[in-house]
Amino acid sequence: MGKCEMVVPLCINVVLSVVGFGVVLRAIPALSSMFIDAGLFGRDLCKADRTKKVPESMGMVSGTVFLVMMFLFLGVPFGQHFITSSKPFPHAAFSEYLTSLLSICCMLFLGFADDVLNLKWRYKLVLPTLASLPLLMVYYINQGSTTVVVPRLLRAWMGGTLNIGVLYYIYMSMLAVFCTNAINIYAGINGLESGQAVVVGASVAVFNMIELGGFQAKSHFFSLCVIIPFTITSLGLFIHNRYPAKAFVGDTFTYFAGMTFAVVAIIGHFSKTVLLFFIPQIFNFLYSVPQLFHFVPCPRHRLPQYNKKLDKLEPSVVEFRDTSVQWQVMAALRLLKYLRLVHLEEGVGEDGKLCRVNNLTLVNLVLVLIGPQHEGSLTTKLLVIQGLCSGLALFIRYPLADLFF
Ligand code: UD1
Ligand code: MG
Repeated sequence: MGKCEMVVPLCINVVLSVVGFGVVLRAIPALSSMFIDAGLFGRDLCKADRTKKVPESMGMVSGTVFLVMMFLFLGVPFGQHFITSSKPFPHAAFSEYLTSLLSICCMLFLGFADDVLNLKWRYKLVLPTLASLPLLMVYYINQGSTTVVVPRLLRAWMGGTLNIGVLYYIYMSMLAVFCTNAINIYAGINGLESGQAVVVGASVAVFNMIELGGFQAKSHFFSLCVIIPFTITSLGLFIHNRYPAKAFVGDTFTYFAGMTFAVVAIIGHFSKTVLLFFIPQIFNFLYSVPQLFHFVPCPRHRLPQYNKKLDKLEPSVVEFRDTSVQWQVMAALRLLKYLRLVHLEEGVGEDGKLCRVNNLTLVNLVLVLIGPQHEGSLTTKLLVIQGLCSGLALFIRYPLADLFF
């Protein structure tokens, strides 16, 4: 693919994305009352006034605008083949493009269903797997690679590359499950869900731009065409979702965003690198494991607690009888306390038999470490951490990975 072949479509893509940004920015306030009337609203739990209705599922607006922009853009990279017919029509790339949109569209729809119906956790795991199936099929038909590069240390025994076959497909569908849920559980304060998607999206775009000069340029070009409109339209959503939130993104957005990252990573052939941009989400997931698997009780909401006197957020806590959890879990919590990674109190309550621990999320951990924070500045700090982690990701991907691969 020549440089000019990429630059012109990318410029048109950016222009369409900016138009999309403007539409999202205007459409959200215009549609807010319609969403509230339809019962799609939530209460802002980290505010003194919890009576205000905030429209929920606003990811539907940014997601729809994103899809429309992608449909309009379709004619740019592929339409030119009708004008200059010197090359055969790229059917493989076209099917990848359409299936990507199908998977993303499916997840937007399923996320919306979750917002309306409050699905159980088992469905949250099954649905992204199903939504990724058409994409994996196209990946298979287009003879997508299933080989991984073996680290230098192991090459003497295993050779330079290893074909892991079906395991690669299992990994890719699990990537879709992970990305959707990891974003959804790293949430709860104004602007965090949409903000993290914008930072990760921008980081993926930077990575794709670096790789445009490499031998996989075509795949990274495709990824850019999707990730630029996604990031810019999500920025429009972020502006309404940031503190003080005038809109909530809903699971519609968290699922849609997660699926978009999984899709570009699969079709762009960087399904391992993409996880490097999810360092805070991976940490949050691992830290959440005791609650996600119910070793420690998990309340419906784990977001921080609002302190009216200070107008700041404090870590929220969960209380349980020390006899109600296994001794191994208590031992793990004590170890985490020793490492200053949890705030654990034992022997509390009237009979002195209760344990109190902060809800195991990264948001609460940051509050444990740096003390109570104003909601707006907490989101900013978490997004700065996300950005710094992207810097670390690029460092791991380039100078460091060159040492091992
Ligand atoms: C996930 C989290 C849950 C967290 C919730 C907040 C897990 C296992 N689940 O659940 O702990 O409380 O996200 O998004 O970790 N809300 C706010 N302020 C915000 C964003 C959301 O108060 O800035 C509240 C609103 O009441 C909103 C609700 O959270 O209506 C949305 O929660 P929902 O996305 O349905 O929760 P889950 O994704 O199931
Ligand atoms: Mg959610």
